[in-house]
Amino acid sequence: MLCCSLSVQEPMSTTSLSVLVGIAEGHNKANNITGVLMTDRSTFVHVLEGASDHLDALIVKLSRDRRHKAFRVIARRAVSERQYNEWSLMLDLTHTTDVQWIASVVNIGDGDERTSWHGSNSSAEVA
Ligand SMILES: Cc1cc2nc3c(=O)[nH]c(=O)nc-3n(C[C@H](O)[C@H](O)[C@H](O)COP(=O)(O)O)c2cc1C
Repeated sequence: MLCCSLSVQEPMSTTSLSVLVGIAEGHNKANNITGVLMTDRSTFVHVLEGASDHLDALIVKLSRDRRHKAFRVIARRAVSERQYNEWSLMLDLTHTTDVQWIASVVNIGDGDERTSWHGSNSSAEVA
């Protein structure tokens, strides 16, 4: 299974990020979960792979984590093969533009959360 979650919080320092990822790696390894955490230090896009019940348990923990200002699963689907097989949790600080773009698409972040991107996006597709 693969799922993505997204959260927004105060910018995290390198030290706090390393601590977070270190703890998460330990948990993920114990539960045979692999994945990547893409971040610009305040918005996080998480891709997680693993058995459905393990992912469900992690999603519950993530949704209860008070460090998240917003958390939601934005996609979930079965995959035939893991993409992050070698990583209990890879930290990716390079795709900041993608992280911000995904945040804007799902209306999370600094912008107006009520802005309807669905309407303008589908019009563009039709045109
Ligand atoms: C942005 C973010 C990403 C996280 N990613 C994971 C993760 O991949 N795996 C994990 O076990 N915990 C992750 N955590 C931490 C969990 O929310 C939770 O604090 C942690 O699993 C500790 O759980 P415990 O109380 O059972 O020890 C993340 C937290 C944040 C803020």
